[in-house]
Amino acid sequence: MTLNQKKFHDLTPAERLAQLAFEADLPLEDLLPLDGAHGLTLDHADHMVENAVGLFHLPLGVARNFVINGREVIIPMAIEEPSVIAGASFMAKLARAGGGFIATTTAPEMIGQLQLLDIQDIPAAKARIMAAHDELLAMAEKVEPNITRLGGGARGIELREIHDSPIGSFLVLHLIYDVRDAMGANTLNTALEQIAPRVAEISGGRPHLRILSNLADRRLARSECTIPLDTLGFGDYSANAVRDGIIEAWAFAAADPYRAATHNKGIMNGVDAVVIASGNDWRAVEAGAHAFAARNGQYTSLTTWWVDQAGNLRGSLEMPMAVGIVGGATRSNPAAAAALKLMKVTSAAELAQVIVSVGLAQNLAALRALSTEGIQRGHMGLHARQIALSAGAQGDEIIKLAEQLIHENNIRSIRAAQILLDWRNKTNG
Ligand code: MEV
Repeated sequence: MTLNQKKFHDLTPAERLAQLAFEADLPLEDLLPLDGAHGLTLDHADHMVENAVGLFHLPLGVARNFVINGREVIIPMAIEEPSVIAGASFMAKLARAGGGFIATTTAPEMIGQLQLLDIQDIPAAKARIMAAHDELLAMAEKVEPNITRLGGGARGIELREIHDSPIGSFLVLHLIYDVRDAMGANTLNTALEQIAPRVAEISGGRPHLRILSNLADRRLARSECTIPLDTLGFGDYSANAVRDGIIEAWAFAAADPYRAATHNKGIMNGVDAVVIASGNDWRAVEAGAHAFAARNGQYTSLTTWWVDQAGNLRGSLEMPMAVGIVGGATRSNPAAAAALKLMKVTSAAELAQVIVSVGLAQNLAALRALSTEGIQRGHMGLHARQIALSAGAQGDEIIKLAEQLIHENNIRSIRAAQILLDWRNKTNG
């Protein structure tokens, strides 16, 4: 679909936005908040946080070629790191040849924790709490009648005994709550505060912390893709060598926490960029991801890569995905609202499916580069531009200087500053 005959990446940022509006069949005004000039205002920010003094910007780009559950999705990504958006887009193109990403989610159930201290008889307290299970759920549901109306609500109570903590044993109540399209932190925290006095009465314990858990392991998103073998070869690398190299790279992360941390960081390059662009809490998603990666006692890879019967490469990513499309900054930040419109997601589950698919594509991009030519080559162009920018290059100078640095194979700030000075001296002299 073209409005402009040029390739998308050859357009100016303003032309790209117009092209996106055309492709997404949206009025341009709907996407203007993404352009960096019409998004969040300082006045608005002043109501969002304390002691506001300004706004902090990140580049916003779009990943292309994604087909998720049969639907074309244009994906906004807020990130400062070069090569991430290009990597995701390229891998999405390979995945598209294998039918795109197939993504699913579990129910949007969040867990809230209530810590109960000073209980004399833990088994008896547990029995009394479970006898009041329905009463407690009904109390918890009162905090969000809207969510209940939409089919969500308090789903259950689980009790966990903690022993051998630095203060000895105590009881923890887990409140499980289907929060539908919200991220859910406010709902859970309010519901826990609501039920805490009654739980104290029933259990004889002293309620202490009442807070959501970011290990949202009941709210998982999963994406899977098939990369046809014949799309994998390039340059001197055969398709088989690339496929097997990716699996060997994954095996390293599966077995070694030092590598898994970096491997998962690469996944989060994609995940966070969409979480941020959609106005969601990326610290919550980060915390959930890494806790989930260590759920079996050893920190490991969040993805899995294997060969299918036809010899194609297949991959999957499963992780907690506590994101919403209502509440918080998802609506109050105009850029986030525009990002959600661009993706045309109609539920938090659909947003989670998009995010986890980007994470999987990002992991593939990193493993493919690392197991073949290394990542520095792909990074070079944009890295050189960043060095040129930080040395003070302006306008046409930026690309010219970046090219010169690459040509000299010396992409360093000190060299960039020297070249810039020489050029300017020549022009002035
Ligand atoms: C860099 O931001 C991310 C990578 O280190 C990820 C990885 O090593 O898998 C390239």
